[in-house]
Amino acid sequence: MHEERTQVAIVGAGPAGMLLAHLLDREGIESVVVETRTEEYVASRIRAGILEQSTVDLLREIGLADRLEREGDEHRGIHLQWTDRGHSERHHVDFVDLTGRSVWVYGQTEVQKDLVAAARERGQVVHYEVADTALHDLETGQPSLTFTRDGEEVRLRAEVVVGCDGSFGPSRGAVPDPRTWDRTYPYSWLGILADVAPSTDELIYAWHPEGFALHSMRSSTVSRFYLQVPNDTALDDWSDDRIWEGLATRFDLDGWTLQTGPITDRSVLPMRSFVQTPMRHGRLFLAGDAAHIVPPTGAKGLNLAVADVALLAPALVAWLRKDDASLADAYADTAVRRVWRCTHFSWWMTTMLHATGDPFDEQLQLSQLRWVTSSDAGAAGLAENYAGLPIGF
Ligand code: PHB
Repeated sequence: MHEERTQVAIVGAGPAGMLLAHLLDREGIESVVVETRTEEYVASRIRAGILEQSTVDLLREIGLADRLEREGDEHRGIHLQWTDRGHSERHHVDFVDLTGRSVWVYGQTEVQKDLVAAARERGQVVHYEVADTALHDLETGQPSLTFTRDGEEVRLRAEVVVGCDGSFGPSRGAVPDPRTWDRTYPYSWLGILADVAPSTDELIYAWHPEGFALHSMRSSTVSRFYLQVPNDTALDDWSDDRIWEGLATRFDLDGWTLQTGPITDRSVLPMRSFVQTPMRHGRLFLAGDAAHIVPPTGAKGLNLAVADVALLAPALVAWLRKDDASLADAYADTAVRRVWRCTHFSWWMTTMLHATGDPFDEQLQLSQLRWVTSSDAGAAGLAENYAGLPIGF
C-alpha cells in the first residue's frame, strides 16, 4: 500500500472542504483533500445562491471575494408575498434597515469555482475520483484514511481527519453511537434555471394556496425559480408551460408581470432537516452537510457549512501549532449551537411558507406573514437570521 502523510486529511472537496484547506494553508497548516467525484462534477452542482453577511465578510478577509464583488449582487432584503381569497400582497423586508446586515446573490457554484482556482494557485493537493474511502484509528494519535486512486491503494496518515463529505459520505458513519434528529417534509421543490432577466430586484418568497414559489436569480440574465410540488413528483409531469403557468399564478400581483424564457436546467429537490451529534469523535471532526442538512427555504446550507469551517480552522491551527486543544475541544458544542439556530430558522421559514391543505395551518401562516411584514419586532427576527448571525454566535 502506498503511504502518504499530511497534517489534516479532509474528506470531500465541496465548499466546506476546500474552504477549510484554504484557511489552514493561510496559517501554514498542510492538508490533503480526497473526493470521490470528478472536479467537474463538484464544480457544476447547482445549489442555493445566497451568501449571508458573515460568509461575505470571511471571503473578503481571506482574499476570495474579487469576483464576488464584481459579479455578485448585494441585496438589502427579500420580498414576502401571499394570496388570500384571491387578493395578493407583496411586502419588502429590509434587512439593512432592521439589522445593518445584507445578503449577496452569488451562486454556491461560483464560490466553489473561486475556491478551486485558489487551491490550484497555491498547489493544494486534491485527489479527485478516489474510491472506497475509509477512516481509521480516530481514537488514537495516528488517524488515517485509506482509499484507492487509479487502482492503487493509498493510506493517508494525518494528525486530524475532517469529514466534509456530506450526508452520503463515510465520515458521519465513523462516529459511533451518534444522536440524530430527522424531519422530512411532505413536499419537495421543483427548481429551474431560465435564461431570462429576473422580473424582480430582490428575491420573492410567495405563499399561495396552490403552493409556495420562490423567485431567485443568478445574474442579470439568468433567473432561478422554485415551485412547491408533492413528494415523488416526476419531472415529466411538468411541461414548460405548466411550470410557467404555476409560477405566474403563485406570483400573481396587480401591475406586475413575470418574464419567461428558455429553461436550461430542472430538478426535483427533497426537503429535509437532519442533525447528527457529536460533531467530533476523537481526531475526527465533522463540518457542513456531513453533520446537518437544512431545507433550502432560508438558504442556510452553504452559509452554515462556512460557519462550521470558520470555527474549526482556528481550532485546528491552535491545536496543531501551539498544542492548545481548548478550541478544538469546544468545537462540537460551539458549532452545534449555530446548527440548531439555522435548523430552527430553516424549519420556520419552510413551515410558514408551504401550503399543507390544512385550513388551520393556513390561517397561522397568513397571520405570521402579516406579523413579519408589519411589525419591526417580527421582521427583525427574520432579518437577523436570514442575513446571518455573527460567526461564533
Ligand atoms: C437559490 O437561489 O437557489 C435560492 C435562494 C434562496 C433560497 C433557496 C434557494 O432560500
